Amino acid sequence: MTQTRTATPEDPAKVAAFEARIAAVESIEPNDWMPEKYRRQLVRMMSQHAHSEIVGMLPEGNWITRAPSLRRKISLIAKVQDEAGHGLYIYCGAETLGVDRAELIGQLLDGTAKYSSIFNYPTLSWADIGVIGWFVDGAAIVNQTILAKASYGPYARAMIRVCKEENFHKRQGYEIVATLANGTPAQKAMVQDAVDRWWWPSLMMFGPSDTDSPNTAELIRWKVKRKTNDELRQRFVNLTVPQAMAVNLTLPDPDMTFNAETENWEFGAIDWDEFNQVIRGNGPCNRERLEARRKAHDEGAWVREAANAYAAKQRASQASEAA
Ligand SMILES: [Fe+2]
Ligand SMILES: [Fe+2]
Repeated sequence: MTQTRTATPEDPAKVAAFEARIAAVESIEPNDWMPEKYRRQLVRMMSQHAHSEIVGMLPEGNWITRAPSLRRKISLIAKVQDEAGHGLYIYCGAETLGVDRAELIGQLLDGTAKYSSIFNYPTLSWADIGVIGWFVDGAAIVNQTILAKASYGPYARAMIRVCKEENFHKRQGYEIVATLANGTPAQKAMVQDAVDRWWWPSLMMFGPSDTDSPNTAELIRWKVKRKTNDELRQRFVNLTVPQAMAVNLTLPDPDMTFNAETENWEFGAIDWDEFNQVIRGNGPCNRERLEARRKAHDEGAWVREAANAYAAKQRASQASEAA
C-alpha cells in the first residue's frame, strides 16, 4: 500500500541524525526514519533495476529454443530464470520502502518507468547470447558489486546474492564467446559482429556522463551510489579490454588507448544521441519489449486472481478457527 506523505518540511534534527548514520556507514533499514527524497530515490533506482531484470529476460529468452546444444540450452534457461529471480528479489526490496509492487509494474507497463536501455537492442545471432553474458552481465557485476555496499540494507543484501549469479552469467557468456572466437572463420565473424553491435550500448548502460547526471551527487552523499557512472564505466572498460585481447576480438573503438600514467584504457566518444533516443522509447525494440511484458501480464491475470482467492480462503478459515 502506498503511504500518504505530507509536504511538511522534515525535522532538521532527524535529517542530521540520519546523515550522521550514513557518515558512520550504518545500514538504513525499512523501519528507520529516512528523508522522503532518500526513499523516493531508492524506489526509483530499485524499481528501474527490477524492471531491467524482468525485461532483460526477453532478448535472451528469444534464443532458448535455438541454443546449439543441450548444454548451452540448460545454461541459458538457468540464466534467464535467475534474471526473473533477481527481478522478484528487488521488487520485494522496493516494497520495504512502502510502495506496492503492482504499482511499480503498472508504471513499467504504461511506459512511465524506465529500465536499462540495453534491452531495447535485438539479439540477431547466437553469438549475441555470448556477448550479452560477457558485456551486459559483466557491466551488471561492476554496477552491482558497488551497490552491495549501498546504505539501504535490503538493497545491499539483495545485491550480494545477485552478484554471485551474475558471475555465472558472465562466465557462460564468455565461454560461448571464446568457443566461437576459436571456431571456424564464419563463427569468428559472427562473434566479432556481435561485439561490434553490443560494445557501445554496453558502455551506455552505466548511464549519462557525470557532468550530465542530475541525481549523482546526492546519491553519492547518501551512499546509495558509491561510485559515479563514469568511474564504473571506466572500471568495466579496464576489465574488458584484456578479456577481448585474450580471445583475439577487436573492440570497435579506434580511439582506445592505454594511459600508462592512470592505467586506464581511454575510450572514444559515446553517442549520447543514440542513448537519449533509446531511453525516450525510440530504440530498435522498445515497443516489442513492452508489448511482450503486457501480453505476459494479461495472460497471467488468472494466476493473480487464483492466488488472491486462495489467500482470501486461507484468511477466512483462519478467522473461523480463531472464532
Ligand atoms: Fe540479473
Ligand atoms: Fe545476469
